[in-house]
Amino acid sequence: MNNDLSNYRKSYEKGELSKNNVPENPMELFQKWFYEVNQFFPETEANAMTLATIGLDGCPKSRIVLLKKYTYEGFIFYTNYHSEKGKSIALNPNVCLSFFWSGAERQIIIKGRAEKIVENLSDGYFETRPRGSQLGAWASHQSEPIESREVLDKKLKHLESKFEGKEIPRPKFWGGYIVKPYEFEFWQGRPNRLHDRIQYLLDQDFNWHITRLSP
Ligand SMILES: Cc1cc2nc3c(=O)[nH]c(=O)nc-3n(C[C@H](O)[C@H](O)[C@H](O)COP(=O)(O)O)c2cc1C
Repeated sequence: MNNDLSNYRKSYEKGELSKNNVPENPMELFQKWFYEVNQFFPETEANAMTLATIGLDGCPKSRIVLLKKYTYEGFIFYTNYHSEKGKSIALNPNVCLSFFWSGAERQIIIKGRAEKIVENLSDGYFETRPRGSQLGAWASHQSEPIESREVLDKKLKHLESKFEGKEIPRPKFWGGYIVKPYEFEFWQGRPNRLHDRIQYLLDQDFNWHITRLSP
């Protein structure tokens, strides 16, 4: 196989980013970009983000998870604590989140530390999930090998009857993480590959320092 993609080329010209007119706090710029992507590119799954962790084997691994909440403190997503990513975070809480919003020609890369959120916050979110998703959380030993699809379907059937007419509690092995950021990079595509890149770095006194990076 020999697929030459050297002619795949796109000029980026939808926006620009200047050090002089970005907010002091990167969460505010994140919020602005997130709103704009939702408003102008509604077909984008704007809250789908790449989460990269360092695995037990020392190798990075990334996968998509859904951002469910963000505040000045950080970014919250939900998962199975016993999954591969859960085990990786337990060993090394340093993670990287990234968003690529193709329509807006924007990328955001965030380094931070992940920690479990308090149990009652996970409970609160779990309660709002559709019943099918609640059962799904119980049914799946995420990242473990499974013999067949039928095994999973059988398990779901069993759980449906077990919890019939009852409230479904949150499994203790399922819940949220918050990623508390210490570095952001906002990337806006520009013509001639001379893109705008603005970096925010958090210092020990919790002040953000803003720097322009070469494209
Ligand atoms: C669009 C999309 C959204 C996803 N959202 C989540 C999520 O919020 N939480 C989650 O645990 N997995 C989510 N997944 C599945 C993960 O990408 C991954 O397959 C799973 O979490 C197991 O990862 P791990 O074995 O590295 O722990 C999503 C996948 C896609 C493509």
